[in-house]
Amino acid sequence: MIIGVLGSGSMGSGIAQVAASAGHEVRLYDNNPDALIRSRDKLLKILNRQVEKGRMDDATAKAIFGRIYFVDNTFAYSDCGLVIEAIVENLKIKKAVFEQLEDIVSKDCILASNTSSLSIASIAAACDNPSRVIGIHFFNPAPLMKLVEIIPAIQTSAEVLDRATKLVNTWGKLTVQTKDTPGFIVNRVARPFYGEALRILEEGLADVATIDWAMTQIAGFRMGPFTLMDYIGNDINYTVTETVFKAFYYDPRYRPAFTQKRLSEAGYLGRKTGRGYYDYTEGAEKPAPVENQQLGEDIAWRIVVMLINEAADALFWNVASREDIDLAMTKGVNYPKGLLQWADEKGIEHCVATMDRLHHEYLEDRYRCSPLLRKMARDKKTFYPKGEKEEVGNTNTSQA
Ligand SMILES: NC(=O)c1ccc[n+]([C@@H]2O[C@H](COP(=O)([O-])OP(=O)(O)OC[C@H]3O[C@@H](n4cnc5c(N)ncnc54)[C@H](O)[C@@H]3O)[C@@H](O)[C@H]2O)c1
Repeated sequence: MIIGVLGSGSMGSGIAQVAASAGHEVRLYDNNPDALIRSRDKLLKILNRQVEKGRMDDATAKAIFGRIYFVDNTFAYSDCGLVIEAIVENLKIKKAVFEQLEDIVSKDCILASNTSSLSIASIAAACDNPSRVIGIHFFNPAPLMKLVEIIPAIQTSAEVLDRATKLVNTWGKLTVQTKDTPGFIVNRVARPFYGEALRILEEGLADVATIDWAMTQIAGFRMGPFTLMDYIGNDINYTVTETVFKAFYYDPRYRPAFTQKRLSEAGYLGRKTGRGYYDYTEGAEKPAPVENQQLGEDIAWRIVVMLINEAADALFWNVASREDIDLAMTKGVNYPKGLLQWADEKGIEHCVATMDRLHHEYLEDRYRCSPLLRKMARDKKTFYPKGEKEEVGNTNTSQA
């Protein structure tokens, strides 16, 4: 099958590499010819580096590169079986592009969007045949990140969902299926990792280095929240939070932090500008954490319980299955453990008690306990009962 990729930025280039590595002929188009040249150079460099490092032989690299056609118009998509759009994150532009695409592609061609935050239903609505439209959400960098979220819109046909999922699975990816809701799984469930860390900082309970120390050394995450925000870029991370916050009708659970907004406004974007929460200029001293075990445990548990609550709530609202929520967080963002499994280990009653304590303390809706956790505590249930797996909560969506 020939794969079309629209947009040759970070994601489009990566997706083209993935599809070409899986043996597909790829047609890559960008309306900015310079972006297409940059993508061509970047892909060549990446593949050459793979050869230099002995990870790939020269013939394979050449074959992959040879399968990617950098095309100068979208008519090249006429014989594609799937076109994945990875252009600018703007609904109006995406809708216009999908409407045009439909006039070019064959009637069986699947049209997919790699959008991180827009509704697939609204993109699909731009097409005469919305049942062929689906979300296929890769993570950055696409060739390295194993997880792909598959998002059927309410209009998407079961056949398109099945074909798209099976195809992406053959690309060496792990697919999870998620409802067409803001942030899908990962960008929704991960919000407290940043938000609660920022809240702890703003309250003055601990500094950046101590919170990062607690989350890496005690909770076992690969990177602390502030190190990660600096890595992602405070502008990007802030925008995702704000988008999710707005999309959830200003639910206080997702409210962005002034600290991050100010950092972003000041141009302290993180590694890419040499300064974020940390100073990355040469010779800058790294602040030392306060290695107080009790403080560290309190910080780690407060952030982890908020993540657990978010994961449980995603299950409560049937955003995805129990397995897919845990898989998404371990494979998509390298969490040390699935959050629902973590809840079982810590004890559901303990999770509920912590959420209630925070809620009682602050009297903010932000700390409301998920009804699913509360019900499970009352019924003395766990997400993964020992021995035979018992289904709790959502049972009607699963990995296709
Ligand atoms: N960057 C990430 O971490 C990430 C992760 C997952 C999903 N996404 C999503 O993927 C999409 C692309 O993101 P990105 O980071 O690759 O952006 P990017 O800015 O790196 O690349 C976008 C490319 O699209 C091109 N473009 C814009 N309008 C176009 C049009 N009408 N026709 C053809 N090309 C057009 C631009 O010239 C640019 O080269 C967005 O929807 C984004 O939300 C991004």
